[in-house]
Amino acid sequence: MNKEEARRQMEALTEEINRHNHAYYALSKPEISDQDFDLLLKKLEILEQAFPELASPNSPTKRVGGEVTKEFQQVQHQYPMLSLSNTYSKEEVEEWEARIHKLIEEEVEYVCEMKFDGVAIGLIYQQGILVQAVTRGDGTQGDDVTANIKTIHNIPLYLKGSGFPDLFEIRGEVFMPHTSFRRLNKMREEGGEEPFANPRNAASGSLKMQDSAVVAKRRLDCFFYYLLGTGLPFKTHYESLQAARSWGFHISDYLAKCSSIHQIFDFVHEIDQLRKGLPFNIDGVVIKINDLRQQEILGNTAKSPRWAIAYKFKAEQVETRLNSVDFQVGRTGTVTPVANLSPVLLAGTVVKRASLHNADIISTLDVRISDTVYVEKGGEIIPKITGVRLDKRPPETIPLKFPALCPDCGTTLVRSKGESAWYCPNRSGCPPQIKGRLEHFISRKAMNIETLGEGKIGILYDHGLVRNVADLYDLKQEDLLGLEKVYQDPDSGKERKMSFKEKSVTNILNGIQLSKSVAFNRVLYALGIRFVGETVARKLAFHFQSVEAIRQADMDALIDVEEIGDKIAESVVDYFQQPENLELIRRLQEAGLNFSLSPDSMILKSTQLEGKSIVVTGMFQRYSRDELKRMIEAHGGKNTGSISARTSFVLAGDNMGPEKKKKAESLRIPLISEMEFLQMVSEE
Ligand code: IVH
Repeated sequence: MNKEEARRQMEALTEEINRHNHAYYALSKPEISDQDFDLLLKKLEILEQAFPELASPNSPTKRVGGEVTKEFQQVQHQYPMLSLSNTYSKEEVEEWEARIHKLIEEEVEYVCEMKFDGVAIGLIYQQGILVQAVTRGDGTQGDDVTANIKTIHNIPLYLKGSGFPDLFEIRGEVFMPHTSFRRLNKMREEGGEEPFANPRNAASGSLKMQDSAVVAKRRLDCFFYYLLGTGLPFKTHYESLQAARSWGFHISDYLAKCSSIHQIFDFVHEIDQLRKGLPFNIDGVVIKINDLRQQEILGNTAKSPRWAIAYKFKAEQVETRLNSVDFQVGRTGTVTPVANLSPVLLAGTVVKRASLHNADIISTLDVRISDTVYVEKGGEIIPKITGVRLDKRPPETIPLKFPALCPDCGTTLVRSKGESAWYCPNRSGCPPQIKGRLEHFISRKAMNIETLGEGKIGILYDHGLVRNVADLYDLKQEDLLGLEKVYQDPDSGKERKMSFKEKSVTNILNGIQLSKSVAFNRVLYALGIRFVGETVARKLAFHFQSVEAIRQADMDALIDVEEIGDKIAESVVDYFQQPENLELIRRLQEAGLNFSLSPDSMILKSTQLEGKSIVVTGMFQRYSRDELKRMIEAHGGKNTGSISARTSFVLAGDNMGPEKKKKAESLRIPLISEMEFLQMVSEE
């Protein structure tokens, strides 16, 4: 292909991709399947690799990130990034309105918007192209986070339509929707990392990451609310937001023009009702003067504009008594303080426990046992203690001390530089860490030993039969038969006895036996190396192919792997430096677990289906759709969601949709039955 042709194709692809991006993210009306979209992106990427000189810095391929920023540039804001004055009462809004009327003796119209709870960002567009994205920083200068911002799908890299000024700034709020937040925290917990306390912290932490490819996976979102520039062609704020929407910016539909306090508070109440059901956090309503000329007359104070005010919703908060604090030790040794409270109703649920996060928070709040404390459920999932009623403090309380020794094994706790969490370093001798590691090892995404569970692990541990995960593979029938545990039934409160009978012992041993065929990547995840979650384990397994190669890898070799940064690499190196871990792996290897990507392991059983795009559709007799999809991957094939000219074949079950059937026929794509497929990959 010559350069001219490449340029033409790249332009056409860029335009098409941007159009689909807009349809998907801004309009929520996708026109093509995710797979077809990925295909367009892939085509563009290939052309960009072949003709790097033609690749645009704002290509939609930048959405997946890749750029690594070691240190963010400090950039001066052309217009200072002010804050808003906050109020919590209707009276204060009325006072604000009265002040406005004194300064402006004409009709005033207001625009009410949601106050998004995220991180402020300012974007500069030049000739319709995003050129720079800067965080608030100290209000006069912030960090240049352009590479990270480009990964956020609903932020336009190029503007649509016409009529936008040659140069302008638009401000908005980057936030993490609840679904992304939950997903991220789950992954962090699985990897033994501290979860983010709330979506705002998660959004702000994400924007400051060095590797934009990681940011791309965080699924951030952004709403815009403020346009700045010289000679903007608008008379009102409302009009400017409508125009911004037409250029492709994500503007909330919840905008109201109001001309009285009464109308303003109708909007406030509507939003307050709505907010519990929103997929993201808001913390109030912003009320702005609509007329830009009037805004100019009012101007700013040193800190905030006079033409706007934020009415903040009170986070639902209740008072209750702090009865005690447990210091819980997790599988990675981190000690988390958890408050036991007198049960209290908060936002529809009874709260008995709340997080106190870490030692720093305990001392900042100076909470003490018997204190009356405020408990809040902000955007957070777990309620937290936010303050203390000092006026209600009983006499003779003493400051709460974070323990110096592990509450379970008595080892002196340690804290790493720059981390707020204390942890117990006694990995091999601390009961909750050992039990936690065993529970992690048998969990579904790890070794998936369904015949064992938390309760049974507890019994094995209490009888001294297992001290580490390798001990599981030494268990014999006679060790287990007749083991007993007396426990209290949580429902009835009665004492009950659990004892291992022959059948359940056979089941347990079979389950353990079966786990030996689990693929290397899952074995690696099961080891519970700090920060090595499911995804990281898969990346490491694919990249290094064997545990031996990972053991030999140094920091540089590890960091070379996609998605792996200093922290993970350090943790991996550290893990393989501990003789006890090497001994553990040796025993597991001896037991027959997969420690390399052998052709037998589930990851890549064969290359039978290499280069094939397969669509799985309908209902099957022997395997579920997901199992079949896993098989396709295990044999080197690729699953795609919709039938196109590139589909190699359709794995068709019963009740295949007539539309799909017609499409496959018209494109002459073969339909393969479950049996034929199983024979093809010799699974049957
Ligand atoms: S207008 C200062 N509108 O709240 C005037 N801000 O507490 C420009 N925010 O810095 C801001 N939603 O980060 C505006 N609809 C909205 C907003 C909003 C959230 C944030 C923004 C601002 C902060 C002030």
